[in-house]
Amino acid sequence: MITLRFFSPEGEEQIVQAAEGISVMTAATQSCIPGINGDCGGNLSCATCHCYIDAAWRGKLAPPSDMELAMLDGALDVTEDSRLTCQIRTSAELDGMSVRIPPIRY
Ligand code: FES
Repeated sequence: MITLRFFSPEGEEQIVQAAEGISVMTAATQSCIPGINGDCGGNLSCATCHCYIDAAWRGKLAPPSDMELAMLDGALDVTEDSRLTCQIRTSAELDGMSVRIPPIRY
């Protein structure tokens, strides 16, 4: 298990223990983290798993695929920190990673 730190748009932290090998989106939805819906189940067709990963952690991730970048093109509030969390697999290297949730619009 690893620890993921989710931060709401207001800066409130929620700690989640996640099994290695699942997606960050799955870890979030299993723990009912508000603002990460994962509507398409991780099939790169919704962008409801959009979050921000700080530069310090981004370097530990595989770069986004062309499909992920195309989906992010249509997402709201995209920044250079934006990633689709369904495309990030948990691993020991990501233990303690911070995941910031974009403004929630529903
Ligand atoms: S869960 Fe739909 S794109 Fe990530």
